[in-house]
Amino acid sequence: MSASKALNLTLKVWRQKNQEDKGKMDTYQVSDISPDSSFLEMMDILNEQLIEEGTEPVAFDHDCREGICGSCSMYINGEAHGPGRSITTCQLHMREFKDGDTIFIEPWRAKAFPVIKDLVVDRTAFDKIMAAGGFVSVNTSGNTQDANAIPIEKSHADQAFDAASCIGCGACVASCKNASAMLFVSAKVSQLALLPQGQVEAKERVKNMVKVMDEEGFGNCSNTGACEVECPKGISIENIARMNREYLSASLKTEDA
Ligand code: SF4
Ligand code: FES
Repeated sequence: MSASKALNLTLKVWRQKNQEDKGKMDTYQVSDISPDSSFLEMMDILNEQLIEEGTEPVAFDHDCREGICGSCSMYINGEAHGPGRSITTCQLHMREFKDGDTIFIEPWRAKAFPVIKDLVVDRTAFDKIMAAGGFVSVNTSGNTQDANAIPIEKSHADQAFDAASCIGCGACVASCKNASAMLFVSAKVSQLALLPQGQVEAKERVKNMVKVMDEEGFGNCSNTGACEVECPKGISIENIARMNREYLSASLKTEDA
């Protein structure tokens, strides 16, 4: 048990019944919150309180509660995943707040991520982008080469691994003034573009993923870098530069063909 003082807080929470509802901020009080509890545990306490009062609990996404699944996406005091760097909402602790604080809690705001209910948004657009190219073809004819036997330059392996740590949370989109998905898509493109196994569909992959990204209504990248700052996994905007090179190269090769 922490010796730190328990917190009494005012919560301003976005409530929206469904996609058509206009939505509004509602105000709730929570008291005696341990500074050692996680932000989502504080939300659980709020919901227990609301259920006891006969009020509909606040809908929010969560699953792993350890920074892996990317589902606990919410805006806290105007920041994706709240204060703190390189953490998801489920990794945020209440010790980051002070007794008497007012905390504003909202869903991601982006045209391509419509609100389904309260803090839950529809991120199907990311799934569609992945389906357009986020995979590799493997020869399963019986003479498949063992992946461990393919030499990969250490620096490429490290960069691919870093890109692969993207959890698809959407904080990059939510933080971007253009609601651009370039950081997410570039991480997925880079992860495969850097490895020999990713070369089979490399040209088609980048073109198809960018095409679906545009069709789904994400904005353009204007290099503000807000995505990199708010990304809980520290995905670098160098991946965006790599994706642009991959895209240009794939487009030129198509014209040559
Ligand atoms: S790039 Fe970062 S912020 Fe964007 S979806 Fe991946 S993990 Fe989330
Ligand atoms: S609940 Fe899985 S990353 Fe937060």
